[in-house]
Amino acid sequence: MFLIHSKSEKHTLEMGEILGRILSGGEILALTGELGSGKTTFVKGLARGLGITDVITSPTFVVVKSYPGRLILHHIDFYRLTETGDFETIGFDDYREHGAVVAVEWAEKFLQEMGSDCLHILFGYEGENIREIRFESQRRPEWESRLKKELTGKA
Ligand SMILES: Nc1ncnc2c1ncn2[C@@H]1O[C@H](COP(=O)(O)OP(=O)(O)OP(=O)(O)O)[C@@H](O)[C@H]1O
Ligand SMILES: [Mg+2]
Repeated sequence: MFLIHSKSEKHTLEMGEILGRILSGGEILALTGELGSGKTTFVKGLARGLGITDVITSPTFVVVKSYPGRLILHHIDFYRLTETGDFETIGFDDYREHGAVVAVEWAEKFLQEMGSDCLHILFGYEGENIREIRFESQRRPEWESRLKKELTGKA
């Protein structure tokens, strides 16, 4: 586990951007945390790091939005989904492709179904402009040390 405190919206955007630059495709990012904790903000930075120039808007109502860039970004929001059937209906596994990154907001709804190879990013509200952002990966612990190095400059 690696944890960092974001001090501003800009700081969260920058962290997303740094992660976006080091992804190579095929990664599944499971973003969890309460309303307004910074998930969409982080994905906006991520898109920037993936070389995406389109404006990123929350996919709450359409569930999935895809953007072309250095890699394709599939931005998914599970907020309005409730049952396992909903997860199956969106055909989640079809988005797991080489050359694409999947970023899922409200991933807590189907964490089991998403599988254990995700990079789990947990957002916590700590104050008006402060957010705790925690990175965990069961199957790929090297992500935690890599991110620690990239995001703090410390090995
Ligand atoms: N350090 C910070 N990091 C991210 N956002 C911050 C920070 N400080 C303040 N904010 C504000 O908090 C809000 C975060 O909203 P955002 O849409 O990113 O949250 P979300 O987790 O996607 O919410 P939802 O569950 O509704 O999708 C924004 O209004 C942003 O300006
Ligand atoms: Mg959001």
